[in-house]
Amino acid sequence: MENNIFGPLGNEKYTEYVRDIRASAFHLLDLVGDILDTSAIESGEFSLPRSSLKVDEVMRECMKLMRVQALNAGVELAANFRAGLPLLHADRLAIKQIAINLLANAVKFTPEGGRIDIDLSATGNTFLISVADTGSGIPEDVLPDILLPFDRGRQNPHESKEGTGLGLAIVNSLVALHDGKIEIESVVGAGTTVRVWLPLDGSGAA
Ligand SMILES: Nc1ncnc2c1ncn2[C@@H]1O[C@H](COP(=O)(O)OP(=O)(O)O)[C@@H](O)[C@H]1O
Ligand SMILES: [Mg+2]
Repeated sequence: MENNIFGPLGNEKYTEYVRDIRASAFHLLDLVGDILDTSAIESGEFSLPRSSLKVDEVMRECMKLMRVQALNAGVELAANFRAGLPLLHADRLAIKQIAINLLANAVKFTPEGGRIDIDLSATGNTFLISVADTGSGIPEDVLPDILLPFDRGRQNPHESKEGTGLGLAIVNSLVALHDGKIEIESVVGAGTTVRVWLPLDGSGAA
């Protein structure tokens, strides 16, 4: 409809409304998706079918999904992937969800002209995914609670960026289900780096 496939809408205003409706629908889908994920994880009914993953391929897919948003935000996405990365025994969807949530936050909280560095590396039995941005940063006093569901840090509810405060909680749960670890390093006004360590063999796996 937005693209007038079946003929023109007649008035420019209609096109604008259709665009708004479409944006709202996507926003609701995001919201419902986050809530469903959270409840599924908490009820323990989140199955994690593991396979041997090429994380660099998964990450490139996620970067593709975020490309338009990054472009619109005027933020550069840079991939720094170590050569000869080992396979990661993990759930593909979970890894995608972790990556997309971290990338979406980095894009959302980084002003125009900023940069997001996505690093992949591995040492010993551990895979490291790192997403570093040059964005607004997270105040030190709210950092300890930032992984909790619905915690939105210092987002002013009246003028804040869209979101549910569930993204990082979901990331945290999915990382825990893989016996991994998450670390957030942040400096207000300078940027945020989120590091996720995952055991290569998915130890403790189902
Ligand atoms: N890369 C980031 N830069 C700055 N603040 C961040 C970043 N990632 C997360 N945050 C802060 O953590 C809060 C929680 O993040 P998240 O759980 O993904 O919720 P949401 O994105 O829906 O607000 C955000 O509202 C924001 O205040
Ligand atoms: Mg988020």
